Amino acid sequence: MEFNVGVIKGDGIGPEIVTEAQKVLDKIAVSFGHNFIYKDILMGGCSIDATGVPLTDEAIADALASDAVLMGSIGGNTATSPWYKLPPEKRPEAGLLKLRKSLNLFANLRPAYLYEELKEACPLREDIIGDGFDMMIMRELTGGLYFGARETKEVDGVMTAVDTLSYNEDEIRRIAKRGFDIAMKRRKKVTSVDKANVLDSSRLWRKVVEEVAADYPEVELEHMLVDNAAMQLVKDPKQFDVILTENMFGDILSDEASMVTGSIGMLSSASLNETKFGLYEPSGGSAPDIAGKGIANPIATILSAAMMLRYSFDLDKEADAIEASVKKVLQQGYRTIDIMPQEADKRAAVTQVGTSEMGDLICKNI
Ligand code: IPM
Ligand code: MG
Repeated sequence: MEFNVGVIKGDGIGPEIVTEAQKVLDKIAVSFGHNFIYKDILMGGCSIDATGVPLTDEAIADALASDAVLMGSIGGNTATSPWYKLPPEKRPEAGLLKLRKSLNLFANLRPAYLYEELKEACPLREDIIGDGFDMMIMRELTGGLYFGARETKEVDGVMTAVDTLSYNEDEIRRIAKRGFDIAMKRRKKVTSVDKANVLDSSRLWRKVVEEVAADYPEVELEHMLVDNAAMQLVKDPKQFDVILTENMFGDILSDEASMVTGSIGMLSSASLNETKFGLYEPSGGSAPDIAGKGIANPIATILSAAMMLRYSFDLDKEADAIEASVKKVLQQGYRTIDIMPQEADKRAAVTQVGTSEMGDLICKNI
């Protein structure tokens, strides 16, 4: 089959890690008889440099014309990069937020899974890790604080900044349904995370989630306050199956969840709308400090490409092949620097490789 893939390489390590994911897709194309046609799309700092804005209308049109978009990462060092001297709506991140909103990508899936082979990279105690854990963070992506009205102005001689956290019941219902649908395919448990002891938006969230839950009698629903959820993620991550939460809480908890899996370099993600279209990106950032060094972990991006095959193209066998290959390469003892064990004896038992070697190894095992 033939698929049109928009490719946003972006900034920092983005180009390096996307190149490896394309390598893997090309291997899949040969092995399974598909054709992936790539269209490069500019977004982020590289788009600012080329066009003056982080995302042009043309780029949005190109993304819309694709069957799915594979992305690396965008942005630079917020302290030193000239991009951060620009007004907020012209900065790299504004491009990503605009793309999410323009394409209505309201459902962000971030799977956090501890590979048996990476237990040593997990910062948690062995008794907490147990047999490992496997959770899916379902983050609402087009509402809440990220998209509410905001302004900074002087009020009675005092500088005052306002961000607005707003959700309507339809926005909550559609993400909740996605969360329960995913739970039905997993261990049938949803933990809905909110701050209902303080926020109105969370109280509405909880009410609507409960209404949706009534249609999924097989799924166990629990509510958890976000501060407690942050604690439980390091205290007992095994308890979680699907974590369903609003935009900002999901942003924070997904970074935390990724770290308990060993490295943010392992965490893939899919951002979906009501159609088959999706934007697939690693959950990590552009890591400007290691850009160009050939040491970034491409696995999250490669696993994001696997998610693209599964969710947008219905190519389950092919996605399985990528995931199995990643597992195999880890079993064979290959590690990028971020997932190297800390102890000397354990380091001696594995082989450190760079970005492109990791991509090659994953291709070889498909
Ligand atoms: C993420 C990132 C983005 C977000 C930034 C780059 C705007 O942290 O995808 O988690 O906050 O959503
Ligand atoms: Mg984030």
